[in-house]
Amino acid sequence: MRGKIRSNGALRGGGSDLAQMSLPCCKSERGVIACADNIPFMGSLPDAMFKLIVTSPPYNLGKPYEERSGLDEYLATQERVIEECVRLLHPRGSICWQVGNYVENSEIVPIDTLLYPLFRAQGLKLRNRIIWHFGHGLHCTKRLSGRYETINWWTKCEDYTWHLDPIRVPSKYPNKRHFKGPNIGKLSGNPKGKNPSDVWEFPNVKSNHPEKTIHPCQFPVELVERLVLSLTDEGDCVFDPYMGVGSTVIAATMHKRLGYGCEIVQEYVEIAQARLNALESGTLRTRPMGKPIYDPGLPRGGH
Ligand SMILES: C[S@@+](CC[C@H](N)C(=O)[O-])C[C@H]1O[C@@H](n2cnc3c(N)ncnc32)[C@H](O)[C@@H]1O
Repeated sequence: MRGKIRSNGALRGGGSDLAQMSLPCCKSERGVIACADNIPFMGSLPDAMFKLIVTSPPYNLGKPYEERSGLDEYLATQERVIEECVRLLHPRGSICWQVGNYVENSEIVPIDTLLYPLFRAQGLKLRNRIIWHFGHGLHCTKRLSGRYETINWWTKCEDYTWHLDPIRVPSKYPNKRHFKGPNIGKLSGNPKGKNPSDVWEFPNVKSNHPEKTIHPCQFPVELVERLVLSLTDEGDCVFDPYMGVGSTVIAATMHKRLGYGCEIVQEYVEIAQARLNALESGTLRTRPMGKPIYDPGLPRGGH
């Protein structure tokens, strides 16, 4: 967004109240990022603006950026944010809520199971409960070490925007052919690759990941890219109400969508802006989509 930020200027083609907003934000023709609480930020935006809302909210674990509250209070806050997201969602749009477990006294509570009724109550339909599997994390001693989180993909209608081709992955057996029937001898799979399924494996952003910043809980840009490419078209608006260091906005910008995000911690917003500047100048390091997972058993880790 470097060089194109207009402080509190009107958003081109936006038609929103952002022009009047007193919230500190950076606006460009590629979107808006703001240091703001998500409720007032969303309140300044018009209905049905976003084709995709993708986020990872705090898990109420007492991380540096959150105050741990009672579960009821946490859920009441999530309910308000979800309600606003649904108002902002385009009729053919999608909401993707990426969460893990709330943990108390070694008891785990999968947050998506708590949020499920809140999304249903808004009339949304669950399309996939994607398992995001990753290799690194705490080693538990009294239970199995947690190595997945989920992304719940919700839509407003049946006719949602959906593109499979841009997110196909290489087939396991690309030369496999029909061995009987009218198509005998022809390729049995799609030459463009296969559906990536609802189990996704991406390294989580730990210390040696190229995207690592000071944020303790970034999600990888490649995870959001897959959602952006399959659930939006070029020029659509994508929003993250818990923006962190801007991974969603980066994925949106990379693929010619307009990226919007808000975040309460000023330092994270500044890092998000610096990452967007680096993207524009071609110096941002991201892990490319489709890069194989490092495998120490293979020469050069399989890369
Ligand atoms: C799990 S992190 C999201 C990280 C993000 N996915 C990324 O890749 O950088 C949740 C973020 O929400 C922010 N946050 C918490 N409450 C907020 C609120 N009310 N409005 C906006 N942001 C908030 C936190 O400061 C934290 O950075």
